[in-house]
Amino acid sequence: MDDLKKHITKLREDFTKGPLTELDVNALPHLQFEHWLKQAVDAQVPEVQAMTLSTVSEDNKPSGRIVYLREFENNSFWFYGNYESRKGKHLAANTNAALTFFWPQLERQIRIEGEVEICDAMHSDNYFNARPLESQIGAWASAQSSKLASRQELEDKLALYKKEFENKTVVRPPSWGGWVLKANYYEFWQGRKSRLHDRIVYEPAGNLWKIKRLSP
Ligand SMILES: Cc1cc2nc3c(=O)[nH]c(=O)nc-3n(C[C@H](O)[C@H](O)[C@H](O)COP(=O)(O)O)c2cc1C
Repeated sequence: MDDLKKHITKLREDFTKGPLTELDVNALPHLQFEHWLKQAVDAQVPEVQAMTLSTVSEDNKPSGRIVYLREFENNSFWFYGNYESRKGKHLAANTNAALTFFWPQLERQIRIEGEVEICDAMHSDNYFNARPLESQIGAWASAQSSKLASRQELEDKLALYKKEFENKTVVRPPSWGGWVLKANYYEFWQGRKSRLHDRIVYEPAGNLWKIKRLSP
């Protein structure tokens, strides 16, 4: 155990892939996001679409978890889950949220902040209908974030819904669907040598975006 603790204190990665300057970045942050996402996909970053979704509860307690980014368009970012889950309750009480990507192979982090709303039913239906059958039935069986007495309880519910939907189209459960985050802040972080990283931030300025550099 001591060895593990020592090991952690000694880990030191130097980031050397190159700079990010104010001149490199696109004037529009969603295009900069798309550019970096494409590079991450090309670099075969595993789970490239996984992002930390940070929310805040009604009593101001923050909470983070990984979810998948499923769509993006201009400054809108879609993700899916159960509206009655912990994150669902947080987002109903406080619409402010943050998305964080970390792509270690490229030594990059992206932070996106904004306001979240439940997306239109058409988006949710389209995404739900494109999911594999097992996942569709799983959405009915799992009351996400609610307490389970055992794994068996979940398996039993799954078996029940499998029977119920046998030879039937699985419709989207009313408690399952998407949210869309409308971004009002972006930060593009490029790791640099000796912790002197590059941080380029976008903030709204009328119809355009103001670009700033932050200290690492
Ligand atoms: C790689 C990965 C991807 C995930 N994708 C999703 C997702 O798209 N939607 C989702 O609701 N949960 C996803 N999860 C599970 C969440 O991290 C979390 O356990 C779940 O949403 C319940 O969180 P909550 O209790 O805060 O609502 C994913 C977890 C991992 C590790």
